[in-house]
Amino acid sequence: MSSKFTASLCLQLSFLLLLQTVFSAQLLPPGAFCSQLSLNFTADHDPYATSLNELMQYLSYHSASTGFSLGSKGANQYKTYGLALCYSYVSPTDCLNCVVEASKKIRRQCPYRKGANIWYDDCFLKYMNLDFFGLIDFSALVMCNPGNATDPISFNQHKTELLSQLANNVSTSLKMYRTGELELAGSAGKLYAEAQCTRDLFSVDCKQCLDHFIAKYACNGRPGGRIYGGSCYLRFETYDFFSASKLSQNLGV
Ligand SMILES: *[C@@H]1O[C@H](CO)[C@@H](O)[C@H](O)[C@H]1NC(C)=O
Ligand SMILES: *[C@@H]1O[C@H](CO)[C@@H](O)[C@H](O)[C@H]1NC(C)=O
Ligand SMILES: *[C@@H]1O[C@H](CO)[C@@H](O)[C@H](O)[C@H]1NC(C)=O
Repeated sequence: MSSKFTASLCLQLSFLLLLQTVFSAQLLPPGAFCSQLSLNFTADHDPYATSLNELMQYLSYHSASTGFSLGSKGANQYKTYGLALCYSYVSPTDCLNCVVEASKKIRRQCPYRKGANIWYDDCFLKYMNLDFFGLIDFSALVMCNPGNATDPISFNQHKTELLSQLANNVSTSLKMYRTGELELAGSAGKLYAEAQCTRDLFSVDCKQCLDHFIAKYACNGRPGGRIYGGSCYLRFETYDFFSASKLSQNLGV
């Protein structure tokens, strides 16, 4: 892993996720990570700004059909690389809306930066003036649901087991995601989870990214959580947050 990607950002936010439904297209206030590592450009007429505009249009246009897009625009020192990922249970319409919004917001949140990540409820968008494709970006935005799981120790064990299985199995999916469920002990109901990676990663790196997050950002004892990463994504809940798109998942995996 290159040292320029080791700067890891972790914003611990306690967030009220409980009121959300899988049908809501509502966007979270975005979490943005403006790269400190790459130089700024200077003005709206900088050729890098032109490359960035073209890249954002490209990503907006190409993400919805498969939930992922990747591209680069510009040349030489003005070249910019980017990707956009929608989470697997997000509909194409919500994906489009999210990436369009993210592509505007990322430039307002990180003006004149040559690199930035932005996370929304439904999607993730990243650009950089370096070719980062295939490299694991460990930056993360972590949101743990408030409250306590009924039996935190047992809950954590089940959660780790399910998430680890998903991290192992994700390599068998062309779209680099897996969803799964597990019966909790007693009458505590079920645990539902998803693991997903950006599709520029090799499977082995996808697993490494997920395993790192499982070990590091556990939301211990919390009844739900989301880890929005620069290369991978994890979510677990005690309700079925992906059922609405189960059919398309089965077709799409
Ligand atoms: C880039 O711009 C930001 C915001 O204006 C500023 O805080 C930062 O120091 C600048 N970084 C460099 C490397 O010039
Ligand atoms: C969760 O558990 C902690 C420690 O036992 C306690 O301090 C806290 O108030 C609990 N939170 C809720 C929402 O029940
Ligand atoms: C992972 O794959 C194994 C082997 O195919 C399977 O038995 C298991 O149910 C899968 N687990 C999940 C959570 O997808």
